[in-house]
Formats: sequence, structure tokens, C-alpha cells
Amino acid sequence: MSEKVFIFDTTLRDGEQSPGASMNTAEKMRLATQLEKLGVDVLEAGFPAASEGDFEAVAKIAGKLKKVEVAALARTSKKDIDRAWNAIRHAAKPRIHTFIATSDIHMDYKLNMTRDEVIKTAVETVKYARSLTDNVEFSAEDGSRSDRDFLCRVFDAAIEAGAKTINLPDTVGYAIPEEFGDLVKYVIAHTPNLKNAILSVHCHNDLGLATANTIAAISAGARQAEVTINGIGERAGNTSLEEIVMGLYTRSNYLPVSTNIKTEHIYPTSRLVSMITGIIVQPNKAIVGANAFAHEAGIHQDGMLKNPMTYEIMKPETIGLSKSKLVLGKHSGRHALRSHLKEMGYDLSDEELQLIFSKFKELADKKKHVVDEDLEVLVTEGILRTSDVFCLEYLHVTCGTTVLPMASVKLTINGRSVQGADYGNGPIDAAFNSIAKLIGTESELLRFSVSALTGGTDAQGEVTVRLQENGLIALGRGADPDIITASAKAYINGLNRLEYLKTHPVEATEGL
Ligand code: KIV
Ligand code: ZN
Repeated sequence: MSEKVFIFDTTLRDGEQSPGASMNTAEKMRLATQLEKLGVDVLEAGFPAASEGDFEAVAKIAGKLKKVEVAALARTSKKDIDRAWNAIRHAAKPRIHTFIATSDIHMDYKLNMTRDEVIKTAVETVKYARSLTDNVEFSAEDGSRSDRDFLCRVFDAAIEAGAKTINLPDTVGYAIPEEFGDLVKYVIAHTPNLKNAILSVHCHNDLGLATANTIAAISAGARQAEVTINGIGERAGNTSLEEIVMGLYTRSNYLPVSTNIKTEHIYPTSRLVSMITGIIVQPNKAIVGANAFAHEAGIHQDGMLKNPMTYEIMKPETIGLSKSKLVLGKHSGRHALRSHLKEMGYDLSDEELQLIFSKFKELADKKKHVVDEDLEVLVTEGILRTSDVFCLEYLHVTCGTTVLPMASVKLTINGRSVQGADYGNGPIDAAFNSIAKLIGTESELLRFSVSALTGGTDAQGEVTVRLQENGLIALGRGADPDIITASAKAYINGLNRLEYLKTHPVEATEGL
């Protein structure tokens, strides 16, 4: 039997630290449910001491999920640990994840602490966390740039104090695979207590080496990988779950280890993360990018027809990438919609189902084939965004070759209806100008992109925007068969996310 590598997913914590990727509580709950279905072993739900919003989301996730371990992050302080524990204490399988930096540069300049003080703090905190739960993880932040022997001393002491998992992060994405694998071997050889704990790694992608470093670490003996869906995360992101899981799956002949991930849920989970966060997956992204299974060169296409294994090392079905399924049509009833949504992971109340059903009927009138991706959009826009301050009620645009593009818009702002009109140098510009005037936003549009949600000319247009206001960045996403409406929805979604950030300030990220 192959040895198991535990998958620790941190999309909801480190992933959410991607600029603009903040998610509301309903979106986090939906994603957490999907991650449990995907089969991750541990789900890091957030950093409860960072903000009220984080605390609330972690507590809700912890209260709902029964199969997966739910971890909460905490600095090495009693206050943070209490906050983390209060958020996860009702989880079926809670885990406290505490961390302190161990590199000289962090200890000298950030913490202002000596090595002995860091060890003492780590030990005291792990012991305290251990008095609350027997499932404690300890991380040595900036571990890859720490003095090796000191690192081993800290790890030995943390395990002695009760940590069950020891995490070695490459916090700034500085390591090189051979070097990182070598560090893992060194740590295993020089930390006697590691025989009583699991060694984990957590890599960042600043040099594009996060996956390679994680694989090197697993090859050297690490047995937990900390990852995010689509590799989202702080700066250049984290190691991507799909790359590690499919790397281990495809090359099990080389590395005889396995994971609990149900690979057929990888692609739907990747889509969901992109939809909720507004972070688009680059087309050439390994495993889940739009081109990952596309064969362009004639020679390749010819080989594929003769035997797919000539150019395909994985089957698209393995990651759940099949042709979009025709799920429901114009004549499908409420019952069929409910049971299909349930299969997708949405357990809707009668009231929510009614709302989605009427939106589904509207869409089915405009679009012949309604597929999973379309339903996902309906639920994301109709249910998960219920805390929105701004909602689009109505959009009317006139444009053409001989008229000045004009848009009239009706919105609700905190439930109050407002309407107005403006012009622009194109219909989308006109729509954005009208919306901006009604809301009185001072945000700046940094990026705008359009793509098609599925294939075919009746596909919904998917628009993503990136907005900035007073140092806050938010991404917005919208989809509709009409791309001007999709653009307006994306803009309004971005403005709602900015509003969310203004009202949910992050109180404690220093040290991450
Ligand atoms: O990158 C890092 O060091 C972290 C720790 C909190 C594990 O995210
Ligand atoms: Zn990190």
C-alpha cells in the first residue's frame, strides 16, 4: 500500500490573502462544502483574530462540516489562540494552527526577539493550544531561510510541547527544489521528536517553484502538503492543489504515495474558486487551464487520434473535465432543478429554490442549453451575494454606428431604488458611467476582461473587473448572455466587494 500524503487546503485563508480575493461568508461556506466533497483532509477556514468577518466565517464552517478537519490560524499569543479556538470549538474535528517566524531576519527586524525567546513563546503557545485540543499544528514562518539547527530545535520543542503536525514553510518562495528536499531530509534526520509528528510543507510561488518544491519535499519524506485551489494566495500564490494531486496521481510509478482527493471534483472546484473570487485561471495553467487538454499542432492532433496516450498524460475526465452536460431545459420542473442543484452541492431552502427557479426559467428562455456552469452562476449571483449593498434592477442601452452610446440604469442601494442615465464612448463605458454616478464611487477601474463561460454563440459572457479605491483592491465578476449586462453585473459586484472590504477591515495580518 502506498503511503498517504495529507492535503491541507488553505484556499480560504492564504488563498483569500490574494489581492482582491475577499469572499463573503456565504461564498466561503459554499467553497468549504465543495472542498469537503473534493476530499481534502484539512481545511484552513481562516484567521479568526484578523477580523470579525473571518471569525464568523470560520465559526460557521466549523459548525457545518463533519468529515474534514477544520483548522484556524493563530499567532503565538494567548489572545489569538483563544479567538481561533472559540471559532472552531464546535467543529467535529478542530485543529489549531499556530505560527511564529524562525529566520534571523524576521526575528531581528519583525519580532525583535532572540532565538531563545522564540522557542519559549512557541512552547508556551503550543502547550496552551494543546490544553484546548489535541490537534495542534505548529509552523515556523520563513522556515526555509532559517538556521537549520535552530529550526530543528524549535520543531523538537514544539512537538515535545504537544504539536501533532509540524509545518515547514517557504514563506517567501525563495527555495530551489533540490535545496528544499535536502532541507526536509536534514530536518527529519535532526529532529528526533518527528517520529511522533507529521512533517508538512507550505510553499509560495514567487519563483514559480512552489509545486516543484512541494514535490521535492514529499519525495524527501514530508507527508502533508499545504495547497490552494488554482494556486491562489499571497503575492505569486501558493502551491496549487491540482498540480500536487495530479502530479502524485500521474507519477505514482515514481513516487509511491497517494492522497484522498476525489480527482473528478478538481475541475468543478477550480471553476467555483475562480467564479467566487473573480480570479481568472490563466489558459496555460497546468491541469485546470482552458488549454491544458487542447491540442493545437497538426502532428499532435494526428497522434491523439491514433492513440490519446501519445500526447495526453492524464485523461480530462479524471479531473472532472467532460463536455458541459445539458442538465435542464425550458420545460424542466422545480423538482428536477432542486435535485440537480443538490448533486452540485447546493441544498437550497424553498425560498431560495423559488428565486433560482425563476432566474433559471428566464435564462432558459434566452439560452437553449442550460449547463452546470450556468446554474453555478445563477446560485452564486442569486444566493451567495445576498449581503450586497448595490443591486442591478434594470439596464437599457442604446448604441450603434450613428448614435452616442447612452445607458439608463436602475439600481437599489441598500434596498432604496435610484435611477439615472449617462453616455460613454461605447455601451459598456456608458453603463459604467451611469452606475458610477448613481453610486458616487471614487474607485478606479484597473482591469476589464471578457470571455465566454461555455462554448457556442449562445454562451454566457463572463466579465471580470479589478477595482481600486484608497488602497483597497476588489475583483468583480458577472455573467449574462448579453455582455453589456454581464459587464454591468461585474462592475456592481466589484463595487459591492469594495464596500464589503470597507466595512470588514482586517485588524491583524501583520506577521503573515
Ligand atoms: O507562508 C507562511 O509562512 C504562512 C504561515 C502562516 C504558515 O502562511
Ligand atoms: Zn503562506
